[in-house]
Amino acid sequence: MKIERKSPLYDGKSKIIFETDHEDLAIQYFKDDATAFNAQKKGTILNKGVLNNQISSQIFRYLEKHGVHSHFVNRISDREMLVKKLKIIPVEVVVRNKAAGSICKRLGLEKGTPFKKPLVEYFFKNDSLGDPLISEGHIEYFQWATSSELNFMKNTALTVNKMLGPCFEKIGLFLVDFKLEFGRTHRGELLLADEITLDGCRLWDTVTGESMDKDRFRFDLGKVDETYREVAVRLNHYFESQL
Ligand SMILES: Nc1ncnc2c1ncn2[C@@H]1O[C@H](COP(=O)(O)OP(=O)(O)O)[C@@H](O)[C@H]1O
Ligand SMILES: [Mg+2]
Repeated sequence: MKIERKSPLYDGKSKIIFETDHEDLAIQYFKDDATAFNAQKKGTILNKGVLNNQISSQIFRYLEKHGVHSHFVNRISDREMLVKKLKIIPVEVVVRNKAAGSICKRLGLEKGTPFKKPLVEYFFKNDSLGDPLISEGHIEYFQWATSSELNFMKNTALTVNKMLGPCFEKIGLFLVDFKLEFGRTHRGELLLADEITLDGCRLWDTVTGESMDKDRFRFDLGKVDETYREVAVRLNHYFESQL
């Protein structure tokens, strides 16, 4: 089936969502643009769009094979992913295995402190408010999601953590934390959405402890482009060996 790209529905910080000639489908286009600290820092990472499309496609395919459904339909070009068009729930679901990033400052935790069991946090997806931390109570009160949708999002996030942790482990990376988004089809089906890439995961080299993710860009650690390429190559080898 040939799908035709129509006008942009949403032009985001790192991706563009296009309408298509099929009302249930959209095209997610991955840019090289990178932002950090609520878009106060801006730049580009060479080929990030191509690599993130590849990484995300492989991960969504792997998850689907193991029973986790997402908006992913197909990778249709270097930078384009065909997806089911969704109404995004304005909640970012974060799973943490070790303390890093905002939680260290917020709770005074030392970076790298392991959590005995994965910790789930929610953030209100709102750039002008700086994506504040919210509770399950806020999500239900403001009706961003019903309690059964919230349960589904939380359980899916924990399942994804269980499934991806060992994959990254196999390629020498520890999955420190990651962010997921969800959305509803017009029929009301709730699906995992957006992307799973180095932009939204923290990955630490299991030997050296070095950051192998967007923190290289956030904190000017150098070898940014190279790291994205390196992780994409390792993941690609891993998923190819799984076929
Ligand atoms: N299947 C989908 N249908 C509609 N919108 C989506 C879908 N998947 C992701 N999105 C949304 O599209 C946008 C992707 O672009 P991105 O650059 O990440 O935006 P943002 O600047 O909001 O983070 C996000 O806002 C995301 O929530
Ligand atoms: Mg985004």
